[in-house]
This record gives sequence, C-alpha cells and structure tokens, in this order.
Amino acid sequence: MTDNIIEVRDLVKHFPVRVGVLFKHTVGHVRAVDGVSFDLRRGETLGVVGESGCGKSTLAQVLMRLEPPTGGSATFEGRDMFAMKGAELRKLRRDIQIVLQDPYTSLNPRMTVGDIVGEPFEIHPEVAPKGSRAKKVRDLLDVVGLNPEHINRYPHQFSGGQRQRIGIARALALRPKVIVCDEPVSALDVSIQAQVMNLLGDLQTEFGLSYVFIAHDLSVVRHLSDRVAVMYLGKIVEIGTEQEIYEHPTHPYTQALLSAVPVPDPELRGQRKVIRLEGDVPSPVDPPSGCRFRTRCWKAQDICAEEEPALITRVAAHPSACHFAEEKSVVP
Ligand SMILES: Nc1ncnc2c1ncn2[C@@H]1O[C@H](COP(=O)(O)OP(=O)(O)OP(=O)(O)O)[C@@H](O)[C@H]1O
Ligand SMILES: [Mg+2]
Repeated sequence: MTDNIIEVRDLVKHFPVRVGVLFKHTVGHVRAVDGVSFDLRRGETLGVVGESGCGKSTLAQVLMRLEPPTGGSATFEGRDMFAMKGAELRKLRRDIQIVLQDPYTSLNPRMTVGDIVGEPFEIHPEVAPKGSRAKKVRDLLDVVGLNPEHINRYPHQFSGGQRQRIGIARALALRPKVIVCDEPVSALDVSIQAQVMNLLGDLQTEFGLSYVFIAHDLSVVRHLSDRVAVMYLGKIVEIGTEQEIYEHPTHPYTQALLSAVPVPDPELRGQRKVIRLEGDVPSPVDPPSGCRFRTRCWKAQDICAEEEPALITRVAAHPSACHFAEEKSVVP
C-alpha cells in the first residue's frame, strides 16, 4: 500500500493556438504543462512554485478535471482519475476541492454567504439533508473564523481576508480529502496572508487534509509545505522536501528564485548574493530545445541545448533537472 493520495505521471496539457476569422487554423500549441510527474502524500502539503505562465493553474485545472489532459495519467487513491465517470466521478468531485486566488471575483456577489457556502450541498445533496444545511453552514463559518450570524450578508460586506475565508468554508463543505490552493493569498495584504495561511494549516491538522499549494514565490509556501516542486515553462525542474529545497537547492532556477526571497535580518541580507535572471521567460508555444531554462542560465553549455536534463537525483538527496546541478546555499 502506498500512501500517495494522488500520483501524477507525465502529465501534459497543450492548448491549441488558433488563428483566422473563425479560429479554424491551428498554428501551434501552448505547452502549458509538458510532462509533469509527482506524488501527493496523504496529509502533506506540496508547494508548487514558479513564475507567471509556467503552468501552475493549468495543472490545477487538469487535476480538478475541469480541463481534460492532452497526455499522461493521474490516480486518486490508486484509481485512474481521468477514466472516472458516473458515481465515481461525483465522489472525486467531492474529494478534491479548489480555493482560488481572487476572493473578489470568485464569489457570486448576488448570493448570500450562506448560499455560497451551502451551494455544494445543492450539487451533492447526499452529503447533507436539506434540514441540516443551515446548521452545517453556520458550523463551517465558525470553523474558518467567521461569525455564523453573518450568514445572510453578501460578499461585498466582507474584507478580502474574510472573503477568502468564505471560499475556504465552501471548499470544506463536502469534507474533501485534497484541496488545491491556487495562490489563495496572493491578492491579500501581507498581514492578512499570514492569518489565512495559519487557518489553512490549522484546518489541515483538524481535517487531515492534503494540499497542493500553488504560489509565485518560494517565501509564501515555505511555512506550510512539507515538499516543494519548482516549475519552469511547463516542467518541474526540482522537487524535494522543504528543507532540501530551501537549504540545498541544486537547480540554478531554484537558486535564483531563492536569492530573491526577502531576508528579514539586515546583516544576513548584506551577505546574500542576489542572482538576477536575464531576459524573459520564453514562449511556451516554442520552448528552447534541450533544457528550457538554458536561455536564462549562467551555467549553460552546448549540452544544455542538445539534451534535455532528466529530473533525477544528482548531487543532492532530491531530484533536479540540470546537467550541472550543484548544491549551493544562496540564503545565509
Ligand atoms: N485556456 C487556455 N487557452 C490557451 N492558453 C492557455 C489557457 N490557459 C492557460 N493558457 C496558457 O498556458 C500557459 C500557462 O498558464 P497558467 O495559467 O497555467 O500559468 P500560471 O503558472 O498559473 O501563471 P500565473 O502565475 O500567472 O497564474 C500560459 O502561457 C497561458 O497563456
Ligand atoms: Mg495561475
């Protein structure tokens, strides 16, 4: 028995690029997710980090079965996720929930908080009989730190942090096993971010949840993550335990991202060498040959253009997709 709740193998999601008056001609594909493999262990948080456009949300959408994959496979509790239909798919839709970035646009402004949080019960009435729903919604509001008396208020009557709590309460309604958090705190003030992160941590312990936690920035996921996957242009370039990734990063991209993480101590800040990445992220329609990071990498050699580096264990205890992987601490 493995204790992986989700296993993803070689997952691919390409979007056609269409042109012409009726968008009839496909001229290429956005390779949003391009061969991603990882396991999500029961009860853990896997942080997924990378710059804008690297495919994080697309990965989330495919895992939620909101978008069909172009290739690859994934299992949920050992069963093929993408083959599920009927009752099994309905169960999957209870077991995996998502919390989105923007609490301003993801909540229907014309619905009361009670209706928003209780809506999953309308779709899955088997979870809560009608008479019990109002009580369940109040309990959920209480669990996420909102006043249950505010059940008849509308989203605009809440602050950003409170709205994200509404989104979390809704995600919890069906007692899921996995929550995919797609940048749930990126739109919030820094002081509020910490409160929402703490809430997510508490809920994980209380309900035994597993999280896929997506963020731009390595500093956001550190506190909550047991393991971290670093993505670049549709691929995972390095994956390991929180300690491995932050203390022994071996991929130049991870090292560059880490060197940009704010260091609170001014003395340590002075000692740190900030790695500035040159140029922009290349287009995912036509990614560089070989290693996708090579066009911005200070270590790149001929082999990097010729041969794609596999994501394998190299110099450290965790896998890294770099021909010249080298253990280097960038944060003192
Ligand atoms: N429905 C779609 N049709 C076509 N292209 C898409 C679609 N969704 C995403 N893409 C493209 O796929 C790539 C990955 O996008 P995605 O939203 O997954 O990135 P992301 O890592 O979540 O970025 P961000 O940090 O900005 O949220 C981008 O180039 C994006 O333009
Ligand atoms: Mg995104």
